[in-house]
Amino acid sequence: MPTIPLSDYAERRATLLKQLAPNSIALFFAAPEIHLSADREATYCPDPDFYYLSGFKEPNAVLVFIPHRPEGEFVMFCQTRDPAAEQWVGRRSGIEGAVAVYGATQAFPIESLAQQLPELLTNRQKIYYAFGSKPAIDAQILTNVQQLRRKVRAGIEAPIEIINVESIVHEMRLIKSANEIAILHQAASISAQAHIRAMQVCQPGMNEYQLRAELDYTFLRNGCSGPAYGSIVGGGDNACILHYTENNRVLNDGDLVLIDAGGELHGYASDITRTFPINGRFSDEQKAIYDLVLKAQLAVIDMIKPGLIWNTMQDKIVEIFIEGLVELGILTGNIANLIQAQAHLPFYMHKSGHWLGLDTHDVGQYRLDNQWRPLQANMVLTVEPGLYISANTPHVDPKWYGIGVRIEDDVVVTKTGCLVLSADAPKTIDAIEALMAMSVH
Ligand code: GLY
Ligand code: MN
Ligand code: MN
Repeated sequence: MPTIPLSDYAERRATLLKQLAPNSIALFFAAPEIHLSADREATYCPDPDFYYLSGFKEPNAVLVFIPHRPEGEFVMFCQTRDPAAEQWVGRRSGIEGAVAVYGATQAFPIESLAQQLPELLTNRQKIYYAFGSKPAIDAQILTNVQQLRRKVRAGIEAPIEIINVESIVHEMRLIKSANEIAILHQAASISAQAHIRAMQVCQPGMNEYQLRAELDYTFLRNGCSGPAYGSIVGGGDNACILHYTENNRVLNDGDLVLIDAGGELHGYASDITRTFPINGRFSDEQKAIYDLVLKAQLAVIDMIKPGLIWNTMQDKIVEIFIEGLVELGILTGNIANLIQAQAHLPFYMHKSGHWLGLDTHDVGQYRLDNQWRPLQANMVLTVEPGLYISANTPHVDPKWYGIGVRIEDDVVVTKTGCLVLSADAPKTIDAIEALMAMSVH
């Protein structure tokens, strides 16, 4: 099973430190624990930037980077070892582990942060942190800055600039390392198996939640921590609700089911959508829409290589969809005029895809200097066109109603083209029907 070795985290920290101004400090705060109700806590989910730089998964911790600091450039604050607390809620690394395992040059108990932060900020001109996301952290830092300003007559320099550190780390996260790509590939392969299993077990009369259970089983059975996001299992018209997560309706003979689900492995997401007939055979109308979505998806995958400008993928999908919808008689008119009028929007209302990584909708800009950015090698993205014709769509023949199709793959840009990480999940009509015909129905 691929993993991220601790040396990769050290390399990431070195890359970050190189980009920090002299006389600066960068701070990263662990995500808060989320209390749901009574004694119920949400499963702890580390902040992705914090985790990307440390590999540390415990709450109540702060990473501090101070370039050229003689006592060490990387300081951690974290929970101390505490046998009683660890007996109830789990193991802690302690400040010893922060140094010995996680590479901090110094580590201190989290309780001492408030007392030590003013000193750490002293004589640093610039503070880098993700301002504006956690009001308590903004308040703490601004209070410390004000305190330091009052001491300037004593010869202390107070910080004069706050910079959003996300502008540096998110661009780092956008270009994946070989180890990250190996994990994303493994996550996509496990998720493809989950989609295959769902196709194999699906039968008319089952409930959407039963297919969801097969997905969860396959994710967990193969080492994923669970789904990377709320799995979508939508039969019939439910496929037309983009973020349908109720997953509690009966799957009817003659309908399609759309499954958008991917496992999370070592914090990295996969994000795959497959759409297939509940009874194993596509109807003529379902085939027509499915093939149009597949045509657009394959055309985009074929275009992907370094240099491709982000929005040209969406433009290609729109062009293919409008031509195809005119051919099918769902739209009427001149193709160029229909494209100009965005006539696809009632049927295709989202974008071609998104970056993929530690977040399902991963970080990183889509535009640079006011222009859509070009793809670069080792970026990972989804390609996910879809067409949705829900019941009672005006001006559409009812024979198309209740057909919602999305096909979504995870793709890494290579030096000369791209590699589909989720290729194990069948997506041609023939491959899906053949797989389902071999299964017990
Ligand atoms: N599963 C969410 C998305 O496809 O973007
Ligand atoms: Mn997606
Ligand atoms: Mn998806």
